[in-house]
Amino acid sequence: TDIKDIKKGLDGVVADYTAVSKVNPDTNSLLYRGYPVQELAARKSFEEVALLLWTGELPSADELAEFTAFERSHRAMEANVKAAIDLLPLTCHPMDVARTAVSVLGANHPLAEDSSREAELSKAKSLLAQFPAAVAYDQRRRRGQEPVEPREDLDYSQNFLWMTFGEEAAPAVVDAFRVSMVLYAEHSFNASTFTARVITSTLSDLHSAVVGAIGALKGPLHGGANEAVMHTFEEIGIRKDESRAEAATRAKAWMEDALAQKKKVMGFGHRVYKKGDSRVPTMKSALDAMIEHFGRDEMLGLYDGLEQAMGEAKNIKPNLDYPAGPTYHLMGFDTQMFTPLFIASRITGWTSHIMEQRAANSLIRPLSEYNGPDERHL
Ligand code: CMC
Repeated sequence: TDIKDIKKGLDGVVADYTAVSKVNPDTNSLLYRGYPVQELAARKSFEEVALLLWTGELPSADELAEFTAFERSHRAMEANVKAAIDLLPLTCHPMDVARTAVSVLGANHPLAEDSSREAELSKAKSLLAQFPAAVAYDQRRRRGQEPVEPREDLDYSQNFLWMTFGEEAAPAVVDAFRVSMVLYAEHSFNASTFTARVITSTLSDLHSAVVGAIGALKGPLHGGANEAVMHTFEEIGIRKDESRAEAATRAKAWMEDALAQKKKVMGFGHRVYKKGDSRVPTMKSALDAMIEHFGRDEMLGLYDGLEQAMGEAKNIKPNLDYPAGPTYHLMGFDTQMFTPLFIASRITGWTSHIMEQRAANSLIRPLSEYNGPDERHL
C-alpha cells in the first residue's frame, strides 16, 4: 500500500450504503428517510420520527397509537437499573450512569440474544421508552431529590421533563425539547453510529452496540460538545442581569483570546458540513424561544458574541451542539446531563443503523500499515 492512501480519521471514506439518512453538505440538507429534518422538527412528534427512522415510513394513526401506548407503559425504571445506578458514585459523569443503565437493560431483556428484525425493533422501542427514567433519576439524585414516577397521560417530551423536574413543563419548553430530540435523532455515519455498526458487524447484540456507541458519543469532539459549549458559557460567566450587548462584548473578547491561544472551541466546526450545520437554524429558533420564555437576553449576547468572533476570525460555523447546550441549560438541566439527553434521542438512529447493518452484514475490519520496528529477534 502507498502510505498516501491512508485516510486518517477515515476522512472522506464512504464505508457502506445507508437508507436511514442522507447528509448533503453542499445544499445544507439532512434527510431522514427522505424527509427534510426541518420539516419533521416543525410538524412531527419525536415518537413519529422514531418510527420513521426504524421502519422507513411515517406511521399510520393506528401504528402511532400502538407505539404510543407501548412507550407510555414501559417508562418505569426496573429495580436492578435503579440499584446499579445507586452503586455509582455521585462524582462519576452522568454518561457513565447512562452507559451502565443501558448495559443493565440489555442484561434484563428477554430477547437480548435474539437478533431477528422483530426482536431488534422491539428492543429498540423498549430502550427508547426506558432510558429517560435513568437520566431523570440521575439528575434528581445529584440534587438530593426523590425520584418522580412517569405519567402515562403525558407524551414522551412532557414526561421526560416531568420525571426530571417534578412539575409539568410549559408548552414552549416541551416544544423546544421535542425539537432537540428530533434534530439529534440521526446523522449517518458519525463516530458513535459507526461504532454501533462495527459492534453489530461482529454479530454482537443490540444493547452491546448501543453501550459502545455511548462511549463514542461521550467525547467532546462528538456528543460531549453540547456539555463543553456550556462550560465555555460558564467560563465566560453567565450574568443574568447583564445586557445583551455587554454579554456579547465579553464573549467576543473571550473567543479572540481563545483563538489567539490556538484553542479548539467546542460547538463549532464539523467534519462534513463546512458551510454550516443544517440543523442549526431550527435549533437556534428553539433556543430563541427559550430565551424569550425565560427572559434571558444576556444568553443571546453570549451566543452571538462567540459566533461572530469565530466567524470573523476563522469563518467556522456553529454545529447543532452550540444552540442545544444553552437550550438545555435554560430548561434547567445540569450541564453534565446534556450528552445523556443526546443519547435519549440518538437511540433511534443507532438502533436503525444496527438493524440495517444486521440485514446486510459484512464484518467491519479495515487494514493498517505497519510502521513499527523491522523484524528482529531475541
Ligand atoms: N475551534 C477552533 N478551530 C477549529 C474548530 C473549532 N471548533 N474546528 C475546526 N477548527 C480548525 C482546526 O483547528 C483546523 O485549523 P488548521 O487547518 O489551521 O489546523 C481546521 O479548522 C480544520 O479542523 P479539523 O479539526 O482538522 O477538522 P475535522 O473535520 O477533523 O474536525 C471537528 C471536525 C468537529 C472534530 C472539529 O471541528 C472540532 O473539533 N470541533 C469542536 C468539537 C465539536 O463541536 N464537536 C461536535 C461536532 S457536531 C455534533 C456531534 O457530532 O456531536
